[in-house]
Amino acid sequence: MIKTIQHNSRLTAGGCFTVLLLALTAFMFAFSGDVSAADQATEKVQGNFAGADYWRSVSDGTEGYTTSQGAEHGQLINVDGERWRHWRNKWISPGGLIAIGGSLGLLVLVYLTLGCMKLDKPRTGRLVLRWGLFDRAMHWFVAITFLTLAFSGLNILYGKHFIPEYFGYDIWKNLIALSKFLHNYIGPVFSVGLLVMIVRWFGHNFFNMTDLKWFIQGGGLIGNKHPSAGFLNGGEKGWFWALTILGLVVVGSGLVLDFPLFGQTRNDMQTANLIHGGVSLLLVAVSLGHIYIGTIGSEGALEGMKTGYVDETWAKQHHDLWYEEVKDQIKEPAGEEKSATEKGNTGRA
Ligand code: HEM
Repeated sequence: MIKTIQHNSRLTAGGCFTVLLLALTAFMFAFSGDVSAADQATEKVQGNFAGADYWRSVSDGTEGYTTSQGAEHGQLINVDGERWRHWRNKWISPGGLIAIGGSLGLLVLVYLTLGCMKLDKPRTGRLVLRWGLFDRAMHWFVAITFLTLAFSGLNILYGKHFIPEYFGYDIWKNLIALSKFLHNYIGPVFSVGLLVMIVRWFGHNFFNMTDLKWFIQGGGLIGNKHPSAGFLNGGEKGWFWALTILGLVVVGSGLVLDFPLFGQTRNDMQTANLIHGGVSLLLVAVSLGHIYIGTIGSEGALEGMKTGYVDETWAKQHHDLWYEEVKDQIKEPAGEEKSATEKGNTGRA
């Protein structure tokens, strides 16, 4: 009996072992079947993500899905970037060189053929106030910030073509970092100065018939007589409006680039960049004409913006109508008594 029981229990243990083995084998088969299905799925997924078709869609600018909610986060490549690069490199860059180079060339030609526009008559030494302290400070503030932006901007666009080669990489890397820093931070400062200048000088700059005649006589180049002018002549008013219109476009597009905090997309930034580059290069080209006339182009003009006063002879020659208005306020040469009325003159006609 005991023997039979022992035998049966041995049979039972053997049966359990066999069942366990079968279950394990079946499980392993089942498991191995799952692994290969998972592998196939992974391969398929990898194929979808990293295959040629996938990258073709990415480079076509196709949008995918991402949990990030930021604008354009589903699009890895912005195809318009290539269009932007083409416009900047093939049109804006060479166009700027032509505009600035052309303007410089023209001014050299004018200087070589006409020279500095001298005063027709000797100076009397009697001075008339043209620009008050505020106007001069504002002018030089705008001029210095503008020139800083012009030089740093030109370096950002053209510097890489020659500075590393001629001055070495160390100088280049510091210069481009400085240019970027100055350009980003001085831009908003210039914007404020420009707005103040526009508001302050707006009233001087309405065109009238005298300005039309001034243009018809080419500012004195056509005919023998110097054309009449009020406080500002037609050319100066033209510069004011060019600066106002082009300057506001440059400032507006610059602020879009400087502060990308208002949901600007990459396309917005690219458009702003093209407008900013194109219009600012044009403005730099035009400003050269103003700087030329303010310095070596016309005798006596710079004195007004430096000291505030211009000689009576200069005032009569360049701004005869304005001179008639202010001749009673003339300051006597040094040592002689000052005109009492001059004290109230702010330089605004
Ligand atoms: C080194 C560069 C510059 C020089 C030597 C210069 C010189 C002058 C001079 C002498 C005047 C007075 C003209 C007169 O009394 O009739 C003047 C006026 C003026 N300047 Fe400049 N300037 C320079 C740069 C700039 C820049 C960069 C800007 C603006 C971005 C600017 C904007 C003006 C404006 C708006 C006027 C008022 C008269 C007008 O409408 O033409 N200047 N400048």
